[in-house]
Amino acid sequence: MQTESRSKYNSHLIKLIIALVVFGVAALIARKVFTPESMGQYGHYRGADIEDQKNIAVRLQTNESCFQCHKPIRRIHKAGVHKTVSCEICHGPYGDHVENGKKIGTLPVKRGQEIIPLCLRCHNQIIQARPRESIKMVGMPQHLQEKNVRIDHTCSQCHMVHDPLLWINQAKEMIGIKEAI
Ligand code: HEC
Ligand code: HEC
Ligand code: HEC
Ligand code: HEC
Repeated sequence: MQTESRSKYNSHLIKLIIALVVFGVAALIARKVFTPESMGQYGHYRGADIEDQKNIAVRLQTNESCFQCHKPIRRIHKAGVHKTVSCEICHGPYGDHVENGKKIGTLPVKRGQEIIPLCLRCHNQIIQARPRESIKMVGMPQHLQEKNVRIDHTCSQCHMVHDPLLWINQAKEMIGIKEAI
């Protein structure tokens, strides 16, 4: 009676061990099948991932890449106060516009009243975290009131978007000439 119950006990144990061994072998096989070939080539990651990352298409570019085709804007933008500002901040990524040196898509261009929020992204006085000594800030609508224009006047009526002080400096020069006369 006693030996019978022990053998029953052992049979449970053997079943458990077999199950564990089967599970272990399955896990080893799964590991072999599912682990990418280059895993661990350089460290605890997939070695071939380096090649994959290298081949990801670059969507953003420098202003120089835009200048290749937009020569007139190059002259204006590079000479003005916005020379450090990226074209892509206002127009979106190069990748949506150019591929293999050819225009493939249209970039958004803000017009009229849409230009106000575009400029205020960087020049709005209410952005407290922005260092005032690096970017000049204006308040709205105070700035327009000071300049004696209606609230619905857009920034681009006085500031050329690609060189915001160009027309203003030209106007000042003209006034200067007038005063000299
Ligand atoms: C501060 C935002 C801003 C930056 C920076 C900027 N642009 Fe613009 N750009 C505009 C706006 C706004 C217009 C539309 C002007 C208008 O219609 O009054 C425009 C117009 C244009 C146009 C003419 C599109 C059309 O259909 O009229 C081209 C081309 C252009 N930009 C290219 C560039 C390039 C290249 C750069 C970088 C050197 C650049 N822009 C930098 C805001 C910007
Ligand atoms: C391979 C040449 C090429 C490059 C590089 C290029 N553009 Fe253009 N772009 C064009 C052509 C062509 C047009 C259509 C004619 C025009 O408006 O001058 C255009 C038009 C535009 C327009 C008007 C809206 C539209 O898409 O038609 C904007 C804004 C613009 N480009 C911005 C940029 C910016 C910003 C860059 C750099 C990130 C850039 N472009 C780089 C060729 C180019
Ligand atoms: C991505 C941020 C950014 C955007 C968007 C932007 N600007 Fe600027 N702006 C700058 C920086 C940076 C300067 C150079 C630092 C300075 O002089 O404040 C500058 C300079 C200026 C200046 C000269 C300030 C001075 O007296 O030195 C004016 C005016 C100006 N921007 C107007 C505009 C207008 C109008 C728009 C919209 C068409 C605009 N900016 C959009 C970042 C921006
Ligand atoms: C009626 C014309 C006019 C309009 C519209 C206008 N500005 Fe101005 N803005 C000026 C003049 C003039 C100056 C002073 C430039 C100077 O003294 O060198 C100026 C100066 C600035 C400066 C520099 C401020 C400083 O402390 O030196 C910024 C930034 C600016 N404007 C942004 C904007 C933005 C953003 C808009 C649209 C919301 C806008 N402006 C609309 C005429 C205008």
